[in-house]
Amino acid sequence: MQTTPKPKRASTDTAKPRRTDAKQTPDRANAKPRREGGTKAIDAKSAPSARRAPTTPRQTDKTRGTAAPRQTDNKAPGRGNSAPRNGGKPASKITPAPVAAPRRVGTKMSRLLDLNVAPPVTKKPHVATSNNGALTHWLLYCRPGFEQDCTQEAVGQARRQRPVLSEQPGILPNSGYALVAINGQSLAYSDLIFARQLICLHHIIEELPERDRLTPILSAIAALPGTFGTLWLEVPDTNDGKTLTAFTRRFQPLLEAALREQGRLVDTDPAESRKLPRLHIFFPDKSAALIGTSDPYNSADALMGISRQSMPAEAPSRSTLKLAEAIDVFMDKGEQSRLLRSGMTAVDLGAAPGGWTWQMVKRGMRVTAVDNGPMKGVLAKNPAVEHLMQDGFKFTPRKAVDWLICDMVEKPAKVAELIGNWFVSGWCKHAIFNLKLPMKQRVTATDAALGGIRKLLDMEGISYKLIAKQLYHDREEITVFMSKTKNR
Ligand SMILES: C[S@@+](CC[C@H](N)C(=O)[O-])C[C@H]1O[C@@H](n2cnc3c(N)ncnc32)[C@H](O)[C@@H]1O
Repeated sequence: MQTTPKPKRASTDTAKPRRTDAKQTPDRANAKPRREGGTKAIDAKSAPSARRAPTTPRQTDKTRGTAAPRQTDNKAPGRGNSAPRNGGKPASKITPAPVAAPRRVGTKMSRLLDLNVAPPVTKKPHVATSNNGALTHWLLYCRPGFEQDCTQEAVGQARRQRPVLSEQPGILPNSGYALVAINGQSLAYSDLIFARQLICLHHIIEELPERDRLTPILSAIAALPGTFGTLWLEVPDTNDGKTLTAFTRRFQPLLEAALREQGRLVDTDPAESRKLPRLHIFFPDKSAALIGTSDPYNSADALMGISRQSMPAEAPSRSTLKLAEAIDVFMDKGEQSRLLRSGMTAVDLGAAPGGWTWQMVKRGMRVTAVDNGPMKGVLAKNPAVEHLMQDGFKFTPRKAVDWLICDMVEKPAKVAELIGNWFVSGWCKHAIFNLKLPMKQRVTATDAALGGIRKLLDMEGISYKLIAKQLYHDREEITVFMSKTKNR
């Protein structure tokens, strides 16, 4: 970990957002990095450590799943190495960081940092460079309460590539985010179910001064190479996090203006800037910032990893948002218009009161809605809907349909077996279904259920695409998209 002493010039006061004119705000003007010799370099005095020991992550590769930064040296990566999860093999290149004292205690961040990437606290504020050791640090967003599942899954994915030397993941229960440090394996966002977002973490600034958050953040960003297409200021998806959004809204234009002036944030058209790495500044609270980057080809294209949906007034239930989000997240616009066409047919198992059916009917489909419960609202008498009061596990369609959608509350293994049978029987081409996860071992239950489907379809020689995610509108559940592709 590198530390940066407190910047000498306290300046920008983000608590006074209405002051925008630089002439009237000498503080803010001072907070901008000083130009040297016509360049736009950060003033070395304000960021000495960052200048002396910059991190050099690899420029983001435009290929899916290759966003892992290059390891540049084997310096001590931080705490937690005394008990590597390496199956007892010697972790020769990783040496424990010196024990540091004193540590800030009693705040969320310090507890988190103690678990994972705590830098020695010698001066305040400091910038910790988290990516210069043998480990790569990842920041993952997830639904609050699923931090354990999120990290378990990420470390599991890394382990399937090669043995993992990892620190204990940094987990704060119900925080909505987690830190994972692993030895260089790349993580593939599309294969992570519980992670809403995948960010390569470069710096942690643990104690941001209230009167000038801009200077240390700019100093940390100065140590990163390249340019960025997007700047996202993000907060945890918690009630505490929501209280920070007014602050991030005020802070965003200040930081954005400074980065544009430095040429770090490019001003291209939106389509072009979407191809460049994104810069994330994550505020667990107002006094700390985690600075990372994401690869647009290996991450979620949504602020905080959340695809927000607005509730349609006509839809019979809020469950409709789950299917709306699934369609948005799992299919690009081309797939949506190809796979969800007017005149297609669908079966909805566990349909009542009708939120999912409503999404399909809205797209011009005819839907067989199977549920012992009543369909509500506009769907009750809609000629495009045939409501059958039957057991969804026993129902068989008279004719094959385009879509199977299923939101029945049942054990994941049982639902998975049903879905597998529908594909093997040729009763549907595409499916979106929900797996309820009220149990403790959610990753294990998910792996078993999806593994069961894969095994069945592989045995039958059926080619398919399968993507699973815990969506923003999912609670203790995940949503899965499957689509038959050309048969082998
Ligand atoms: C979460 S709700 C579905 C909500 C629905 N997707 C919507 O958007 O309004 C679950 C539904 O599954 C139904 N269900 C549970 N087990 C079933 C079964 N074996 N056969 C048919 N329906 C079932 C329940 O009656 C309930 O209406």
